[in-house]
Amino acid sequence: MEPEIFINFKHYNNAVGTNSEKLLADFKSIKNQDSLYYCVAETDLYLQKSFPELHIYGQHVDSNGYGAFTGSVSMESLLDLGVKGSLLNHSEKRVDSSIIESIVKKSKELGFKIILCVENLDEAEKYSKLEPAYIAYEPPELIGGDISVSTARPEIIGQAAEICKGRTKLLVGAGVKTKEDVDTSMALGAAGVLIASGIIKNAKPINRLVSLMGNR
Ligand code: G3P
Repeated sequence: MEPEIFINFKHYNNAVGTNSEKLLADFKSIKNQDSLYYCVAETDLYLQKSFPELHIYGQHVDSNGYGAFTGSVSMESLLDLGVKGSLLNHSEKRVDSSIIESIVKKSKELGFKIILCVENLDEAEKYSKLEPAYIAYEPPELIGGDISVSTARPEIIGQAAEICKGRTKLLVGAGVKTKEDVDTSMALGAAGVLIASGIIKNAKPINRLVSLMGNR
């Protein structure tokens, strides 16, 4: 099975606005886009229309639909742009559990994919029961660092995979930098990885992504 690679652009200055568009244009040169997902800033989601061949996803969504909801990011509006999924509850954008429940429930009605981020195994247990499209396990203390989750916490990846089995797919993230990190995560039962700085902060993001993909 091909690893699914979710690239979180976060709000890094080289990955927002016109720079986001440049990065996506570079990434577009990769022929096999099947398992690649680009989670861009909310203000750049309109780019899905310019890059229909790419899977452009959000970084956060709200529970409300259309209406008097100032500042909202509704799933309905993303679907209207052709955006079919989003991260939710990232460590840098946490959400109350009652709101998570209603977003996941609604996402299934709308056919929208939620990548629900969790910080520990208790959250993995609690939220995998909601059966979102994915659970993304990221130990917050390793995010943005040089030690990958697959090096520092391999046993936890296996446990998280066991928890998610039969309910949802597992992604792992935090400090992911190399193909070995991806391979180890897959061997431990993950469906793929969620990665930010390892690609976006690299001097040549496209080269780094290609090397993470291996021969495909
Ligand atoms: O969403 C991905 C993220 O939080 C991990 O960040 O920079 O450690 O790859 P990074």
